[in-house]
Amino acid sequence: MNTEYLCSSVIDGLAGVGYALVPDAVAPELVEALRDEALARREQFRPAGIGNQAMRAQAVRGDSIDWLEWGEGSEAVQPFWQAMEALREALNRELYLGVRELECHFALYPPGGGYQKHYDNPQGRSARLVTILLYLNPDWRPEHGGVLQIFDPEDESRVLTRVEPRAGTFVAFLAERFPHEVELARHERLSLTGWWRRA
Ligand code: OGA
Ligand code: MN
Repeated sequence: MNTEYLCSSVIDGLAGVGYALVPDAVAPELVEALRDEALARREQFRPAGIGNQAMRAQAVRGDSIDWLEWGEGSEAVQPFWQAMEALREALNRELYLGVRELECHFALYPPGGGYQKHYDNPQGRSARLVTILLYLNPDWRPEHGGVLQIFDPEDESRVLTRVEPRAGTFVAFLAERFPHEVELARHERLSLTGWWRRA
């Protein structure tokens, strides 16, 4: 994978409009390895909660998740962590963000699952500075839905961008700034989500 391209695309996007969309950021073999890693843990995925209200949360978000520690996974997924290490250094060197940890999980949306419009870090209350997403869906088609929409913070009804969850597409955005939503998926939708946190 071209780590330099990934890092410079993310830095330019965050410094400019506040978000970055990088198609084909991650090589197909590495996407495949991450996908295999996720599917091998399929039994461990649990419905995602919001606070402790799992029942109410299901109407808001339909995914199941499995948390991933830094460096975890097979040999074949290690280039991902190496790329994230390079990204951490770039975020701190170029944007002075002072990020320390990447909090990370796989997410699996079953057909009929979505995630209503939300902020990942409302009013900057948590340590989450930058959200990252990597999609792990080979052969995704437009009719599968599951589009990520990012909205204008000044006018939340205005869509800034729509992203299909295609294998290898990497997204980053400022976690405090952008409301976003996952449209209903009509096909199983797998991704890796992370948040760069300050100290
Ligand atoms: C999230 C989220 C978006 C996506 O997990 O908080 O907004 O495209 N995910 O999976
Ligand atoms: Mn989110």
